[in-house]
Amino acid sequence: MERLVVDRREVLKLGGLGALAAAGLVVPIGVRAGAGSASTLASAIMPRPYRRDFLRPPVLQPYEVVKDAQGRPVLERYSLTARQFEAGIVGGGLPTTMWGYNGMVPGPTISVHQNVRVEMRVRNDLPAVDTTFGQPSLTSTHLHGSASLPQFDGYASDVTQTGFYKTYEYPDFQGARTLWYHDHAVHHTAVNAYSGLAAQYHLHDDLEERMLPQGQFDVPLTISDAMFAADGSLAYDDKGVKSLWGDVILVNGVPWPVMKVKPRIYRFRILVASISRSYRLRLSTGHTMTVVATDGGMVPVPQPVTQFRASSGERYEVLVDFSKYPVGATVDLLNASNPNNVNYDHTNKVMRFQVVAPSSDDPPPYAIPADWRIEGEGKATMDLQRTGKERVTRLRLKHDDVTNVWSINGVTWDDVVASGYTKIAANPRIDEVQLWELENSSGGWFHPVHIHLVDFKIVGRNTNGGQPHPWERGPKDVVYLGEGETVRLLAKFHVSDDTTGGRYMIHCHNLVHEDHDMMTQFLVGDPDFTNDPHPIYAAPPVKDDLPEDSPTYLEYPPGV
Ligand code: C2O
Ligand code: CU
Repeated sequence: MERLVVDRREVLKLGGLGALAAAGLVVPIGVRAGAGSASTLASAIMPRPYRRDFLRPPVLQPYEVVKDAQGRPVLERYSLTARQFEAGIVGGGLPTTMWGYNGMVPGPTISVHQNVRVEMRVRNDLPAVDTTFGQPSLTSTHLHGSASLPQFDGYASDVTQTGFYKTYEYPDFQGARTLWYHDHAVHHTAVNAYSGLAAQYHLHDDLEERMLPQGQFDVPLTISDAMFAADGSLAYDDKGVKSLWGDVILVNGVPWPVMKVKPRIYRFRILVASISRSYRLRLSTGHTMTVVATDGGMVPVPQPVTQFRASSGERYEVLVDFSKYPVGATVDLLNASNPNNVNYDHTNKVMRFQVVAPSSDDPPPYAIPADWRIEGEGKATMDLQRTGKERVTRLRLKHDDVTNVWSINGVTWDDVVASGYTKIAANPRIDEVQLWELENSSGGWFHPVHIHLVDFKIVGRNTNGGQPHPWERGPKDVVYLGEGETVRLLAKFHVSDDTTGGRYMIHCHNLVHEDHDMMTQFLVGDPDFTNDPHPIYAAPPVKDDLPEDSPTYLEYPPGV
C-alpha cells in the first residue's frame, strides 16, 4: 500500500491535472487569459452569488445512547459512512460527484454535551480506486479540536481502506467549543477534504449554554471554495502542489447562499474548511461582529471587530446583530482577502443575510450576559503567563524551491515515516507548559499552523505591535502565520486521564502543503515510546462485514 501512496504522491508532485494537461490529455483549468474564473463551466450554468437558499446541515442522531444509573447519558454511539454521491451545485442539472460523510457535504453535525463520551464509527465505503488519480481511496478521520488518544486522533498514516471501518473514541472532557471532523489520510488529505469529507462537531457545556445563543440562533457556517470542470465535475488544480484556488465560495456546500434572519442577535460558528484559501471577513454594512469564541472555546473578553482574518482550520464564533436593520434589508458577508490568495470575480463574497419579520414565538432578545466569564480548560489556557523558565520549541516553516517540498524544521512527514514514526520535533512532558515559536521562513506564502492535542494562547507576534490580533485573543489550535511572521504561543500539554501521552501531528493546514509534506509530530510524555499507545497499531481498522441491517448502518436523515 505504501508504494501506491508514493505513486500517487508523484502524480500530485507533477501537479495533478496540470501534469495531465502537459501531456495533452485534459484542458488546463484556470489559465484562460484574463479569465475571472477558474472553472471551465459554461457561463449559463456557472453558480452565481445569492441565488440559492442557505442550508443547515442536519444533526446526526446517535444509534445508541448509554446512560448511567441516574439516566444521564454517558456515551453516545454514532455511525458515519464516507461514500461517493452526486451533489447538485452547478446549474443545468449537471451532477457533481463528491465524497461525503453519509453522502452529504458538509457531513452531518454532531452535537454533544461535555463529558458525554462519543464512539464514532467511520466506514470507508468509497470506490476502491478514486477516479481522479487512479489510487486507492484511503481515509483517516481527525476530530480537530479534541484531545483524543493518539490511536483515535486521525494520525495520517493510520489509514482505513475501502471495505473497512474504524471506531474512533472521543473523551469530550474539554469545555464547549466548535470542533470539526475531517479526513486526514497521508498524502490524500487535500483531495479528500476538498471532495467533501468535512463537518462540524459541537461540544456544549453548562456555561456556554447560559452565555451564548442556542438552537436556531446558533448557526454553523462551514466555508470552502471549489472549481468545476465543463462537465460539472469538481476540478482539482493545485498549481504544482502550491495551493488550490477555487472560484466558487460554498457555505455549508451551497454557493453564496441567502439566509433569512430575524432582527436579533445570531451566533455564527464560522469554520474555514477551504484547503488553501484564507479569508478576511467583514459585513457589507461595515458594522461590527463580536468574536465570542475561538478554536478552543469562549474568549475571556468578547471582541468587537469590523473584519477578521481566518484560514483553513480556524474557527471563530461571532455574534451579528440584525436588529439594527429594517425588515427586508440585506447584509452581505464579504471577503476582503489576504495577500497571496488568488481571487476571481466573486471570491470577494461569501453569503447574504436577508432580514425577515420576527415571529411571535421567538425567545426574548439575546444580549451578552453581564456576568460573562470563562471557566475550566479555556480559562486555564488563557491564564497561562510566560515565566521565562519554560522550555522553548522552535519550528521553521519552509518551502524548498528546488525540490518543491514543504517542510517544518527541514523535516517532512516522509522523514517521520522513514524513522518508524520516532522522529519528533518536541517532547513536552505531561502537563508541561512550553513556549513555541513558529517562524515563516518561506517568502510569499502564509501557513496556518495546527498543533494537535492542545489549545494554546498566542502571546506574541512580530507584527501587530507584538500583540495577537483582537480576534485571536482566545484559546486557539491553529495560528495564522502570515508572510514574514513569527508567532509565540504558550501551551500546556494536558492529556486525558486514561493515557500516558503519545505522538501527535503538527502541520500546515493549507492541506496541499500538509500533503507535500509540511507535517511533523511531537511526543507528549516519556521520551522512550514505551508507554504511549501506538497511533497506528493500537486500534487498527477492522473489516466491514457488518450485516446490512446493523444499527451501525443507520444514517440520518434516512436515505439522504
Ligand atoms: Cu484540521 Cu491535523 O487537522
Ligand atoms: Cu503552508
